[in-house]
Amino acid sequence: MAKRKKLKKNVLYFIIIIIIISIIGIIFSIKTYNEHKYKQTYEYKLIEHGYSMENTKKLLDYYKKNDEIEKILSIPRNEEILNLIKEKYYIHKNLERYLSYLDKNKNKEKKDIIAIVNVNRDYEFYENDISTKTEDETLLIVNKYYKLNENFEPTNLVTISNNYAYANNRITKKANDAYVSMWQAAKNDGYKLIVNSSYRTYQEQDDVYNNIKLSKGEREADKVAARPGHSEHQSGLAIDVFEINNQLTGTFKDSPAYKWLRENAYLYGYIERYPENKEYLTGYSFESWHWRYVGTEVAKIIQEENITFDEYYAYYIDNK
Ligand code: DAL
Ligand code: ZN
Repeated sequence: MAKRKKLKKNVLYFIIIIIIISIIGIIFSIKTYNEHKYKQTYEYKLIEHGYSMENTKKLLDYYKKNDEIEKILSIPRNEEILNLIKEKYYIHKNLERYLSYLDKNKNKEKKDIIAIVNVNRDYEFYENDISTKTEDETLLIVNKYYKLNENFEPTNLVTISNNYAYANNRITKKANDAYVSMWQAAKNDGYKLIVNSSYRTYQEQDDVYNNIKLSKGEREADKVAARPGHSEHQSGLAIDVFEINNQLTGTFKDSPAYKWLRENAYLYGYIERYPENKEYLTGYSFESWHWRYVGTEVAKIIQEENITFDEYYAYYIDNK
């Protein structure tokens, strides 16, 4: 009897031990499984990559798409990324270029790094031309990187009335309608605007550029004139506009008419294309007379955000 009791007890102990071992086994397996799962998360990968928990959280907060984080993991850990993503005009596809430009320009502000790279100024001018997309004839871009085809001619070119321009000045119909409204508003405020240059063909631009190059040399010519295919004048959206009493390129910037344009042109869809102090982005010396039609919606954004059209295009059009 006692022997049977002892046997029962031993079986019970055995069962308990088996249960305990199983529980430990299960706990261990769950733990291993969870660990394995965690190692597959981006939180683990970013921390392994060298980011602190705090910065990892910030990165995960900002980047919502897997391929975006994969890119962060594919480049060496760099805390500057945390500063760059705080900037409004940050464009993820430019990240490596921001970092490389920043590396060579450590004292520049982050917002400038972003703007410079966005408008391609980390590349040499005229080195790798990008073909201008012309589907949207109002918002197309032409600059030292984007080039119009030699045969590009805007549709709907109209001649600006002699009341508002010197003879034979043409721009697109939309740009002309807007200019006429702007002209009237300026007139009501006491300024008589006058256009002295507008649409130019590829060939005409070639002549303009080469004449300046012949007299001043290539370096100087490139500051004030576009090479053929690279001029906004070929788009039919640009006007060189002065005021009847202030028609000198050297002094128009000091005229009340220029001040008026700066305050009001956007209401008619025109923007200042080569503003003062933005040479590092546009690649051209300040041109107080060169105004570009983009339509009122876009002009308002550019005015309010105080950005160049190059920056606008990079962030709001090309980035989409
Ligand atoms: N002067 C401007 C930049 C042009 O030649 O198009
Ligand atoms: Zn111009």
